[in-house]
Amino acid sequence: MDGLTHVHSGKVRDLYRTDDGRLVMVASDRISAFDHVLASPIADKGRILTAMSVWWFATLADVVPNHLISADDPVIPAAWRGRALVCRPLQMIPVEAVARGYLAGSGLLDYRATGEICGVALPPGLVDGDRLPAPVFTPASKADLGEHDENVSYATVAAQVGEATASQLRDTTLAIYAAASDIARDRGVILADTKFEFGRTSPDGPLVLGDEVLTPDSSRFWPADEWEPGRPQASFDKQFVRNWLLSPASGWDRNGTEAPPPLPDDVVAATRDRYVQAYERLTGLSFADWPGGE
Ligand SMILES: Nc1ncnc2c1ncn2[C@@H]1O[C@H](COP(=O)(O)OP(=O)(O)O)[C@@H](O)[C@H]1O
Ligand SMILES: [Mg+2]
Repeated sequence: MDGLTHVHSGKVRDLYRTDDGRLVMVASDRISAFDHVLASPIADKGRILTAMSVWWFATLADVVPNHLISADDPVIPAAWRGRALVCRPLQMIPVEAVARGYLAGSGLLDYRATGEICGVALPPGLVDGDRLPAPVFTPASKADLGEHDENVSYATVAAQVGEATASQLRDTTLAIYAAASDIARDRGVILADTKFEFGRTSPDGPLVLGDEVLTPDSSRFWPADEWEPGRPQASFDKQFVRNWLLSPASGWDRNGTEAPPPLPDDVVAATRDRYVQAYERLTGLSFADWPGGE
């Protein structure tokens, strides 16, 4: 790619640097489930998640500064239009800043094992999908590619990045979660939990929100009208994929060593529809208006 240097590839996104030192984050249509990147891409997923992230950055601009420069810049090649973001490069803080308002995922596993998440004690008797008494900051250490992020205590974060930065991370994470979950709630969506990554443009500068934000890849979104604690919740994005992979039709053994099989076309289509629905429901915008679809 002209004028762009590849710097990093994650499971679903690629990172480039421009000649003038800006960053380009490109979201692909790849989807992961049960820790596997699936063979079948979901058409438009990269554009839908990018559109969502851009909307949240703008909507939350009063709460926290962010790294977004432009979603429609001449440096973006036509093939990436609508799924690439030009961003300010940040010195990233190596902490996955997670906020949880509900019990699910690794939080649920930790709670079942210890009654706590990341050293935060919770009341006894909570079940899968329960609302927590108050949202909690449950940081995780950033793992290398292929490894699981590991939940860590606030004290561990403070020892790693310093008390001042740790408390900034916690307060900012909870403030963004509160603002975003109120907005989602009004639109019939529960923001069960979400992960942010922060950085700074200079060592003594303010925290700046980086990475992607409040997308289904970084968050659990649940349709509020289907919420029912005591069982795994219907999620807004990958539910069709997970259900199909676990059904006899897929012939796949989650606990085996084989990679999951390709998804049938109807599962791909239903999943795409669900992503579009999540975007349109949250933002009130039409996905047809987002760049790159022409
Ligand atoms: N503004 C930024 N400046 C520098 N690095 C960033 C910025 N925003 C996000 N990043 C980093 O870019 C990478 C995005 O890669 P990603 O696809 O999430 O893969 P992974 O998290 O598996 O490494 C992450 O390491 C993230 O911390
Ligand atoms: Mg990442």
